[in-house]
Amino acid sequence: MIEVKNVTKYYEIGKVHALRDLSLKFEDGKFYVVAGASGSGKTTLINLLAGIDLPSKGSVIVDGKNMARMKEKERRSFRLENMGFVFQFFYLVPYLTGKENVMLPMRYSRKIAEPEKRAMHLLRLVNGEHLADKKPIHMSGGEMQRIAIARALANDPKYLLADEPTANLDWKNKERIWKILKKVNEEGTTVIVATHEREFFHFGDELINLRDGMLYAPEDSH
Ligand SMILES: Nc1ncnc2c1ncn2[C@@H]1O[C@H](COP(=O)(O)OP(=O)(O)OP(=O)(O)O)[C@@H](O)[C@H]1O
Ligand SMILES: [Mg+2]
Repeated sequence: MIEVKNVTKYYEIGKVHALRDLSLKFEDGKFYVVAGASGSGKTTLINLLAGIDLPSKGSVIVDGKNMARMKEKERRSFRLENMGFVFQFFYLVPYLTGKENVMLPMRYSRKIAEPEKRAMHLLRLVNGEHLADKKPIHMSGGEMQRIAIARALANDPKYLLADEPTANLDWKNKERIWKILKKVNEEGTTVIVATHEREFFHFGDELINLRDGMLYAPEDSH
């Protein structure tokens, strides 16, 4: 479980309160969609959940561990073993093939006994077996994102965090990626996806709506 307790994130540059006294719980095994307009704090929240960034006030507690209390190195290895990431712009390593990209995180952790076997299993999961020996330059955007999802799952993370994973894809590929994320969730991974794409809100068991860095329930406006 990830607990967000009274979290405020203030960026000195721009003097912006990206999150304001936010409290939330992410339970194991669920699919969460984090929604909200541009600038509402979605990316900030995802980065705090991952311990990529730390709160200005309050705490983020992952499986009982306060991210801010860990040393940088400890936080990095905790993240490597427990969390997978998918970004809007894929960020594949251009000179590595699909399979090599998927195997990369396994090199930095000893969690997986047979990296190549696992990579092929994950490529099958995202319907990307045919991409194993291709380099990213020869893949479509949807294919690159499927490889990125397989890579995010490399170390069998408990949490999969995705920030606007389908913003740069065409309709057919958007649907495909959301279905893959759902499948990953059904296999037991807690999935947390930030998106502003309403068409996909229904994939979440829970919708977390942000507005100006705070929780927003549309009923409140009446
Ligand atoms: N590194 C940073 N330094 C300063 N201000 C930042 C930084 N990152 C985000 N902000 C500001 O914090 C607020 C929230 O930004 P954030 O990126 O979390 O929003 P978002 O909901 O992800 O938006 P988008 O849908 O455009 O991706 C915005 O006002 C933004 O300008
Ligand atoms: Mg964002």
